[in-house]
Amino acid sequence: MSIFKEIKEIISEIESNLVEIRRDLHRHPELGFEEVRTAKVIATILTELGLTVKTGIARTGVVGLLEGAQAGPVIALRADMDALTIEEKNQVPYASQDKGKMHACGHDAHVTILLGAAMVLSRLKDRLPGNVKFIFQPAEEGPGGAKPMIEQGVLENPPVDRILGLHVWLDLPAGQVGLKKGPGFASVDQFDLLIKGKSAHGALPHQGVDAIVLAAQVISALQTAVSRKLDPTEPAVVTVGKIAGGYRRNIIAEEVGMEGTVRTVNPAVRTQLATTFKEIVGGICKAAGGDFELDYREGYPTLNNDDAVVELIKEVATAVVGTDHIIEPDKPTLGGEDFAYFLERVPGCFFLLGARSEAKGITAPHHNPYFDLDESVLALGVEMMVRSTLRLMEE
Ligand code: NI
Repeated sequence: MSIFKEIKEIISEIESNLVEIRRDLHRHPELGFEEVRTAKVIATILTELGLTVKTGIARTGVVGLLEGAQAGPVIALRADMDALTIEEKNQVPYASQDKGKMHACGHDAHVTILLGAAMVLSRLKDRLPGNVKFIFQPAEEGPGGAKPMIEQGVLENPPVDRILGLHVWLDLPAGQVGLKKGPGFASVDQFDLLIKGKSAHGALPHQGVDAIVLAAQVISALQTAVSRKLDPTEPAVVTVGKIAGGYRRNIIAEEVGMEGTVRTVNPAVRTQLATTFKEIVGGICKAAGGDFELDYREGYPTLNNDDAVVELIKEVATAVVGTDHIIEPDKPTLGGEDFAYFLERVPGCFFLLGARSEAKGITAPHHNPYFDLDESVLALGVEMMVRSTLRLMEE
């Protein structure tokens, strides 16, 4: 029997177990750096499979090492483990049992798929020309678990040669795989801005500095930072997502606070936009006699897939789902993903696994209280991960 047929057989053997694991994780969502129960479930399974397991990396991270019988490269596979502060509205038997927390991005499926890959690959251990490192990472939704895991040596000892990650994707139907060379996700920066004016009676604006008028100007001008200052062919977004200020209708506001996010793909544009941002805020506040405090923080970098690895994964996807089920977007999404930190160190690929099903009514977007996924993609995800690992070991 061919190894690919054998893989398919093992997967069909474990598929119902995978569904159970995913549903168990879905019932018990945990937020970033609080994935204690999740980590325990993972460590227990990996230990039973005979892997060398390390826990408590970057607080709740787990790493399992599977050593193949033959010497060869080290391939890392990564899953994120965290849930979101969203109250689930799905009426399903496996709905979240923890009010206000929910696996609304599919990270429960990511963990399950990686555990499934560990189950399959450990059965093929005797024929494995290399080692596999399974990385279970906390807090992808923020503040980010990839960076601290790398700082704690997760890519060393043994050093990782290639790395793979995936995300279930509700924009794509189940059965499709999304692949992109080069940049796939945007860099994500954050800002907290406090605009400071001077309070006065609402009828005597000339005696104060109106922080609300300043805020309005700043917000409008920030939009021109993208539309008038940047190369229009370069993707960039400035979003003010929260604003608060003022006391009452007849008082000139002294302060307005706002929070937002800045997304770019090109690192040069990232730097340029940060500079323009500060110039706009400073210029407007100064002209009006006001002041400001700005905390502008760099977050996740742009996620860059390695073109050669993408080619190999495309070969695998062609065999697993067929050419007509491979989607290759020509543009990156401006969403963020801290798998980017791994890809800064190790060549690899982060691919998308379609999980939408119109027939099953599974269509809600990510981070939505009605989010769910077509569980048939668990088996498909395992097959993609396992076969991709083998393909990368051949290189
Ligand atoms: Ni996610």
